[in-house]
Amino acid sequence: MGLLIKNIKQLVQIEDAPKKWVCGEDMQILPTIDQAFLYINDGLIADFGHNDDAKKYLTVADEVIDAEGKMVFPCWCDSHTHIVYAASREGEFVDRIKGLAYEEIAKKGGGILNSAKRLQATSEEELLRDAYERIEEVKYFGTGAIEIKSGYGLTYESELKMLRVIKKLRNLSPLTIKSTFLGAHAIPMEYKNNRQGYMDLLLQKMLPQIADEGLADYIDVFCDRGFFTVEETAQIMEAGAKYGLKAKIHANELDYSGGVQIGVQHHALSVDHLECVGDAEIEALLGSQTMPTLLPSTAFFLNLEYAPARKMMEAGLPIALASDYNPGSTPSGRLPFVLSLACIKMRMLPEEAINAATINSAYAMELQNELGSICKGKKANVFITKPMHSVARLPYSFGSDLIDTVIINGIKQ
Ligand code: NIG
Ligand code: FE
Repeated sequence: MGLLIKNIKQLVQIEDAPKKWVCGEDMQILPTIDQAFLYINDGLIADFGHNDDAKKYLTVADEVIDAEGKMVFPCWCDSHTHIVYAASREGEFVDRIKGLAYEEIAKKGGGILNSAKRLQATSEEELLRDAYERIEEVKYFGTGAIEIKSGYGLTYESELKMLRVIKKLRNLSPLTIKSTFLGAHAIPMEYKNNRQGYMDLLLQKMLPQIADEGLADYIDVFCDRGFFTVEETAQIMEAGAKYGLKAKIHANELDYSGGVQIGVQHHALSVDHLECVGDAEIEALLGSQTMPTLLPSTAFFLNLEYAPARKMMEAGLPIALASDYNPGSTPSGRLPFVLSLACIKMRMLPEEAINAATINSAYAMELQNELGSICKGKKANVFITKPMHSVARLPYSFGSDLIDTVIINGIKQ
């Protein structure tokens, strides 16, 4: 099945060979071709170049799209979400408007524990149906790959239930999906005075079963004030590593928790959130293989300080962007809005934000050889925009939907 997209005003994020990531000043460079074509065959990117060279595909293509005035991007890679959940939490949203803090709500059994109670009482079928709808929703925002975490189960049965839902989503959805075990999302009420008891449940019961069934690619811990300590986080990462699970850590959202440093020490694939980042965290990340991943729509929704993206890039670091789509801190998976926030609130240039949500977020899911750019041999997960003059238009028009057509594995959605 050959699909030719011709007359493309600008083909964005092209690569001759997959790179690992883009960092520091290089994040300002976004390779593009003006007046381009893209040829997709059997679900993969087969060729691309100047529109003058598209003729050779006109006769062999099964379908030709004329993209005059429009741009073509690789789909976003959303490397941090919690889209398997049972219910929205707008009651807490109103509580926060009235002045309650996110942590106060959590301490009273709201927050993650509230979601866990609801999820425990919800069937696998219902969870699957709702999560599938959310994936379909974000697909039309341009997301072509997504990481999904457990962490609203918090019991043996329900954590496994969540991970089985994620496994089923992989068969149902054309998106590339990675799965993360986040049993260490919060300490359940019944273990409030027995943290070790919950650690034992996580490490001795849940983890071996999850590994046995091959239900997770990664392991995650909410390492922050009021949740899991640095020592507990280290223990969980070590246990995960024994089963071949790399870590992706929730770190430094609420405090300078030490989560970044402990994540780097344990070769975490990514450390995510990073609203509380200073020189020590930047120093720890420099020279590491860990991708700092920023989630500005969480800072937006919870009214937190934004992560110091400019300072991090000026120090030479790479940055990835992701949504954190979840019912508590980020009830949205709209990546174009994440890019707008990155530009407006963290002063990232549009080119930097696009690099962060494509190549770098692909790395944060170990997908840099498959996705994240327009590169021959990579999966044909791309989107065509509405007519626009420059890539800056995408984050600039923060409330508009500028995505015209989404193509996943070479198939129009
Ligand atoms: O990434 N910070 C920890 N976990 C989620 C929010 C969980 C919730 O409030 O339901 C997050 O923001
Ligand atoms: Fe999260």
